[in-house]
Amino acid sequence: MSTNVDSFTISEKEGLYKAVFSRRDIRSHFNDKKIPGDVLVRILNAAHHAPSVGFSQPWDFILIKKRDTRLRVKNSFNHEREKSISLLDNDLDRQDKYVNLKLEGILESDINICVTYNPERFGPFILGRTSIPETGEYSVCCAIQNLWLAARAEGIGVGWVSILSIEDLRKILGIPNHVKPIAYLCLGYVNKFEDRPDLERLDWLRRTILSKVIHFENWNNTELNNWNNTNKIIQNLNGM
Ligand SMILES: Cc1cc2nc3c(=O)[nH]c(=O)nc-3n(C[C@H](O)[C@H](O)[C@H](O)COP(=O)(O)O)c2cc1C
Repeated sequence: MSTNVDSFTISEKEGLYKAVFSRRDIRSHFNDKKIPGDVLVRILNAAHHAPSVGFSQPWDFILIKKRDTRLRVKNSFNHEREKSISLLDNDLDRQDKYVNLKLEGILESDINICVTYNPERFGPFILGRTSIPETGEYSVCCAIQNLWLAARAEGIGVGWVSILSIEDLRKILGIPNHVKPIAYLCLGYVNKFEDRPDLERLDWLRRTILSKVIHFENWNNTELNNWNNTNKIIQNLNGM
């Protein structure tokens, strides 16, 4: 059995791009609606169908609801946040902005999920991971992105919290030493998805224009005309 090689229908394509462009990192606007079990399983199954180096599927998902566990994670966040604020001691304007940013929804969201990387799954030899060991962790990130997009399609917001200590997460969640926490995610239904990233709306950084990150054939070539017409089309996209 295989699936048809035809393109998606127009509405199927629109659905995919809608998920991509309207996905947001969510830290506020969570509401009280609970995520039903079947919806959660659909999202986890989408994550589990991500590509992975050598088909190693090196991910695990720790599902967390208990408040005392979350409070411990929140303490780790608070501690790490203080450390990052002190890194901005020489830039008081940015420090002031940072202090006012909401950067996690650990307690307000319905479910927290810690996504981990197990380099030992299926033994030491993983096809394709021999030259670039980080491909194992990249695979976990592919799973996280699948989860994020599937959640968006279900109307569920996801916030990735990385201002945490890996050692704290290991201790709090009983994660063995050979397994590495990659992401701590907060999931829940939300009242709205903003059009633009919070960090853009709040003037922290702006989206780079697409043409600034495209190179033609060689790193040093960013302005090749007539490369499959792409250059001109990208120029017209600027501002997206
Ligand atoms: C690896 C990774 C770690 C992140 N860590 C945090 C975090 O600790 N706190 C936070 O508020 N957002 C975090 N984010 C979200 C980014 O700030 C967000 O993706 C970016 O500003 C673009 O916004 P968007 O996701 O809404 O498009 C993280 C995103 C990624 C991919």
